[in-house]
Amino acid sequence: MTILITGAAGFIGSHLCDYFIKHTNETIVGIDNYNSFYDPSIKKRNLAHLDGHSRFKCIKGDILDKGLLQNIFENEKITEVIHLAAWAGVRPSIENPDIYYQVNIIGTLNLLNLAKDYKVNRFLQASSSSVYGNNKKTPFSELDAVDLPISPYAATKKSCELMAYNTHHLYKIPIACIRFFTVYGPRQRPEMAIHKFTRLINEGKEIPVFNNGNCLRDYTYVDDIIQGIIAIYNQPKLTYDIVNLGESQTISTLDLIKLIEKYTGQSAKLKLLPAQPGDVEQTYADISHAIKVYQYKPQFTVEKGVEAFVKWYKKQEALTIH
Ligand SMILES: NC(=O)c1ccc[n+]([C@@H]2O[C@H](COP(=O)([O-])OP(=O)(O)OC[C@H]3O[C@@H](n4cnc5c(N)ncnc54)[C@H](O)[C@@H]3O)[C@@H](O)[C@H]2O)c1
Repeated sequence: MTILITGAAGFIGSHLCDYFIKHTNETIVGIDNYNSFYDPSIKKRNLAHLDGHSRFKCIKGDILDKGLLQNIFENEKITEVIHLAAWAGVRPSIENPDIYYQVNIIGTLNLLNLAKDYKVNRFLQASSSSVYGNNKKTPFSELDAVDLPISPYAATKKSCELMAYNTHHLYKIPIACIRFFTVYGPRQRPEMAIHKFTRLINEGKEIPVFNNGNCLRDYTYVDDIIQGIIAIYNQPKLTYDIVNLGESQTISTLDLIKLIEKYTGQSAKLKLLPAQPGDVEQTYADISHAIKVYQYKPQFTVEKGVEAFVKWYKKQEALTIH
């Protein structure tokens, strides 16, 4: 079997490549365009340790390039797809919606079409808790209506779920859309909360805290996300499914910052600001479906995860300085 992992050099993608190389005999073909949404050298570093591995390669290319994708499916004999490549993040999607709609929707369409043409065995794609918008009912269940996206990013992720269902319905490709709830851990994207807050605290700089620190988020440690993806990947009875992967705990931004202060041993300077357009008030995953069907069992409380993240951050920093 040869698995195509899109967005392989990114935060979650690189952890997934590591998992398959370390724990399975699968051959992995990655694709990533190493774009500059954040420093591409971070993405190169994410995969550097896999360079030259006999069961791994990452092709530099764009999921909007249909010809390249077709060559990859044909030449590499792709049998499964895990599609993570996207423009991620809510706030930048409001500033630059076109690139989000192009890459997230047309890129996903290109991959679904090839999955159909090459009759892949299964197709997993990254969705997001942002599809729940300002859902008032908590925790958020896969059965809740998600028709009111409050950012272009969320609208693209919901659109991809609809395209995925249609591909499954017409061509019987087993597909799962996995709604990740704010993922963090080593290699987390530098602009995301936890990574950004740790960096600013460490540099003694002010932290802009939106919604006066009252946003509530369900933070999910990357090891738990990988465990969940693998469980879904290994489910032989997969038809079409939507699955929440979260930690099912919810913490306010202010309490999160207190945890980072505890593990960095430094005090944060806060700049309290109003809520930003597009930001949802809270996320809180109902993970009962993932537990029941996929035996998903998250291991990291946010306290344990923040401790592990800060440890990784300090090690990285020491490596960069010396
Ligand atoms: N990290 C989270 O908290 C989170 C939460 C919900 C959903 N997601 C989704 O999970 C997936 C992975 O997120 P991540 O945090 O690892 O982000 P990331 O930005 O680190 O990884 C995405 C990768 O996709 C690549 N990419 C983007 N456009 C591409 C294109 N046109 N062609 C080829 N490659 C392209 C990027 O270079 C990047 O390496 C995304 O689909 C994201 O929307 C992430």
